[in-house]
Amino acid sequence: MKLATKDTVLEELENFLNNQSRFQKYSQSVAQYLHELVLRQDEDFRDVTDILHGKQLGHPLHPVLTDLTIGSWTFGVLFDVIGIVTRSRSVKRTGDNLTRLGTLLAVPTAILGTLDYSTIKQDAASYGAAHGTLNGLAFGCFLLSTIARLKGERTKAFFTAIAGMMFATASAWLGGELVYRHRVGVNHAPDTGPAEWMTCMTLDDLDEAAPTRVDVANTPILLFREGETIYAIGAVCSHAGGPLEEGTVVGGVCIECPWHQSVYDMRDGQVIHSPSTYNQPRYEVRVRNGNVQVRRWH
Ligand code: FES
Repeated sequence: MKLATKDTVLEELENFLNNQSRFQKYSQSVAQYLHELVLRQDEDFRDVTDILHGKQLGHPLHPVLTDLTIGSWTFGVLFDVIGIVTRSRSVKRTGDNLTRLGTLLAVPTAILGTLDYSTIKQDAASYGAAHGTLNGLAFGCFLLSTIARLKGERTKAFFTAIAGMMFATASAWLGGELVYRHRVGVNHAPDTGPAEWMTCMTLDDLDEAAPTRVDVANTPILLFREGETIYAIGAVCSHAGGPLEEGTVVGGVCIECPWHQSVYDMRDGQVIHSPSTYNQPRYEVRVRNGNVQVRRWH
């Protein structure tokens, strides 16, 4: 019976997120506005957002902090319960400290989450907005709980923490939906391609300084010709699957994704600017008898 109730609530939430077009549009507009706000800042600010996205880490940073925040809150409530049962003051104090720690950690976690939300895939924006809203409610409850603990109002502290855990749990379920269903934060660039040399086009057809997509062995590859040198990286953006051949060439040898403006070096596929945190796959290129040939990087 309990399970059926939980399923019904989650189904209702899912139906709402999938069918409320106004909420979807609003979520997309807010994300777009935040993203444009970031892009309007200078290069130094962009470098900071690269760190916050997790570029140096090689995967998104936000999930690392969510684990610490939710872990602190969860153990805080656990120690609250043990403290109530055992009437141990030191156990209660541990619960207080963990709750306070989780509430402090929630601030940077929210900043990182908001930044990731600003570049979220359009079809996942409503899930991202609901995830953030529930986290905000959880944070509010735990903030009230922390204040109540400072005032010695233990009953209020306990029940606001329980309410906070309920919001945080629902939000965690949405976080799972974002990753496992919508593939937010997952590497979208297929790590495939021909193991042996394969011809993809003639050299005469490859224009200079014009990013060109070819499909080789079911793998979209981006070619870029710079004089006698040709570079090849995956054509599907690792952030959310954007078409890099429609991107903008920046700095001579870099490509900016048209969807959320990640920048990659076409010489080796390295991420120069987030939101992407994954490098693009890189391919070897050679010219034989006037044909351009590629294969996976060895
Ligand atoms: S798809 Fe998001 S930056 Fe390329």
